[in-house]
Amino acid sequence: MGRSVTLVFAAALAAFIAAPALADDIADGEKLYKTKTCMACHGLKGARPIQTYPALAGQNEKYLLTQMQDIKSAKRIASKDPATGHPYTEGMQAVMHLLNDDELKTIAKYLTSLEPGKPKAIDPPPSQDDLAAGLAAFKKLGCVACHGADGKKTNVATYPIIAGLQRDYLVRQMTDMRDGVRVNGQSKLMLGVIKKADDAAIAAIANYISQVDRSAK
Ligand code: HEC
Ligand code: HEC
Repeated sequence: MGRSVTLVFAAALAAFIAAPALADDIADGEKLYKTKTCMACHGLKGARPIQTYPALAGQNEKYLLTQMQDIKSAKRIASKDPATGHPYTEGMQAVMHLLNDDELKTIAKYLTSLEPGKPKAIDPPPSQDDLAAGLAAFKKLGCVACHGADGKKTNVATYPIIAGLQRDYLVRQMTDMRDGVRVNGQSKLMLGVIKKADDAAIAAIANYISQVDRSAK
């Protein structure tokens, strides 16, 4: 067998082995997600969290991993939940000792593989004018440079996809980042831009972005 034939054969074999390995990781990740309490807060298949919590289905894998690591180590913290008086990150941080780094990587693979859910309806529903104002603010402030034209796709794999996240969760993240409560990871990249957003702009953007649908039609 010539050298190039051997190489082609080796590459084909590697691809053959890689596919089932990913399927195994996804199955293992699903098991961890269901048994390590994640589902209680982030919902079935990572797509049905309550209004103030993040959906995880179809999020960028690298972003998911860094955020889980940062919540575990308390590098990422949040403002206080008025219902409990504790930071929103605290309940999750309390369970993160159940998982080691390899398991977090496995869960990230599982969550990335999932189909994003339909946008959660807002009550009362925003008007067309409200949504247009949100889109205008999103463009004017320059969010599109990192989060894409409608928040569905990022140009860097470590950045989060924000389209279709829960409205109230979006408001909190923008506010926490602007006010210096959330400073983990690459947050400071966003600071210059989000500093220019007042509460009204943040509310308008959250209304708009939360209703952008990236579920399978
Ligand atoms: C007690 C509720 C709770 C549990 C249990 C929980 N989480 Fe969370 N999780 C949250 C909340 C709330 C946030 C957002 C915190 C904030 O407001 O900054 C979060 C944030 C995240 C994020 C970052 C999302 C983003 O868009 O930035 C990831 C990833 C995540 N959780 C994964 C998990 C996994 C995996 C598990 C199980 C090992 C888990 N969570 C368990 C409540 C929980
Ligand atoms: C220079 C790039 C950049 C720009 C411009 C930018 N962002 Fe971000 N954004 C990021 C990065 C990076 C993160 C994740 C930070 C981390 O590593 O924790 C983020 C996080 C977020 C999050 C939290 C997502 C989650 O799942 O928790 C929201 C919401 C968000 N950005 C909205 C916006 C909006 C709205 C604008 C415009 C006002 C904007 N961003 C401008 C880079 C940017």
